[in-house]
Amino acid sequence: MSTPAAPPERGAVALAPMTPAHLADVLALGRRVYDTSVKPYTSWSLSAIAGHLDSEASACWVALDGEQLAGFVLGSMGFDQRSDWGNLEWIACAPEYQGQGVASRLVKACCATLTEAGADAVVTDVESRNTASAALMRANGFEASVSVTLFVRENTG
Ligand SMILES: CC(C)(COP(=O)(O)OP(=O)(O)OC[C@H]1O[C@@H](n2cnc3c(N)ncnc32)[C@H](O)[C@@H]1OP(=O)(O)O)[C@@H](O)C(=O)NCCC(=O)NCCS
Repeated sequence: MSTPAAPPERGAVALAPMTPAHLADVLALGRRVYDTSVKPYTSWSLSAIAGHLDSEASACWVALDGEQLAGFVLGSMGFDQRSDWGNLEWIACAPEYQGQGVASRLVKACCATLTEAGADAVVTDVESRNTASAALMRANGFEASVSVTLFVRENTG
């Protein structure tokens, strides 16, 4: 009888600035963890990623376990009309790496890059049911500010 295979050894997760070489893995991880059938995650796409990566003041980081993508954060300068605010828009950690502080490290790296680029504040929005994301942001110095509720008028025909 053969013995079951041992789970793969996982090394230390290291952060690195995101490059175009990470695009496919970042897109795939986002598709895994965001429910792209519901707002606000419906806008997850290659162009959503590229918008941050292409920006002059980009603050995009990946968390890597060797070649394996463990997580990412996408941010850049500017939020709506405020060019002096940084925007941390997308963050994700692969389920097998969650609960190990990976996302916290990504938040810190993104905020440090935005601060260096001159951000007076860093803004992020959190969907009201996403308690993990809200706790992550609170643990990293973000405080709840204005709430926006999406009102939907169904077309009943
Ligand atoms: C939210 C998310 C990025 C957190 O990633 P993570 O690497 O597991 O988070 P961390 O281990 O760095 O946790 C940091 C803090 O966040 C909080 N937290 C993270 N996951 C949590 C959970 N499931 N429930 C409650 N609090 C949670 C904790 O306060 C934690 O602090 P602690 O370590 O002192 O307990 C991850 O759950 C994820 O990828 N979710 C799906 C994608 C998503 O919703 N992204 C946000 C919208 S763009």
